[in-house]
Amino acid sequence: MDPPSPDSARASGKSSESWDFGNLIGLILAVVLAMVVVKLSTPTVMKPRLWSPEELAKYNGSDPKLPVLLGIVGSVFDVSKGRKHYGPGGGYSHFSGRDASRAFVSGNFTADGLTDSLGGLSPLQVKSIMDWHNFFQNSTKYIYVGKIVGRFYNQSGLPTKEFVKATLLAARGERIMKERKKEEDRFPTCNSRWNPQQGGEVWCTTGYPRIVEVVSDGLYRGTSDSRCACFDEKAMNSRKGLLLYEGCPPLSQKCQSSPPQV
Ligand code: HEM
Repeated sequence: MDPPSPDSARASGKSSESWDFGNLIGLILAVVLAMVVVKLSTPTVMKPRLWSPEELAKYNGSDPKLPVLLGIVGSVFDVSKGRKHYGPGGGYSHFSGRDASRAFVSGNFTADGLTDSLGGLSPLQVKSIMDWHNFFQNSTKYIYVGKIVGRFYNQSGLPTKEFVKATLLAARGERIMKERKKEEDRFPTCNSRWNPQQGGEVWCTTGYPRIVEVVSDGLYRGTSDSRCACFDEKAMNSRKGLLLYEGCPPLSQKCQSSPPQV
């Protein structure tokens, strides 16, 4: 076969250039179209801002066109990705469109319980609410979208005295948790079992069962909680306030903790 003439080579070069140009235009159009589709199908990410409780109420999931928002300790999160939990009919729908911080520990989802008031809660309870706040904050699913003007943030978005108080209580709760953990590492909780025929039994694999008060959760309600812990003889002699189960010999590793029910 003859080699292509210079003319025919030029002609074919020209037609491949115009083919490349057409392709480029097509590619650009395809990319622009893809960007439009992605933009339209991706929900707009809200910029964090200040919310009034009334505005927030509209975002309780009842309008399917709006994102679902939830308030906790004054912060607002977009929880649309958890619509099945937080939307209408979901197990946690009561948390949407409002700040119902208290219900995160009380589990009280009645009108009275759905409040952001933390009045009278113990440090451990406030710590637990703050842990929920941090759960939403650190979630890769949910997005922080601002603050509610009210109990925890003022008109300028600055923390109120109540917010500072909640933070201090939660910090106290954290210290109490650490102290309890230290105690439990040192004096392990007794093994226990219960059935109606035998009643309750507690026992230690090392040491002896004693009833001991748990590290107090603040000054609240005057209640004192107790647990069964295993003490060795030395610790038993130096620790004040330990109680022995009724009828249990002092050096028995197993005690009856409650009578049979039948
Ligand atoms: C004070 C009581 C309770 C509160 C405040 C609470 C709150 C929550 C919240 C905020 C979530 C996170 C949902 C998410 O991923 O966004 C959750 C998850 C969950 N809760 Fe509760 N809960 C409570 C009690 C219970 C109880 C009693 C049960 C079981 C009987 C339970 C079962 C679950 C389950 C299974 C999940 C995981 C759901 C999933 O990811 O599919 N919760 N809870």
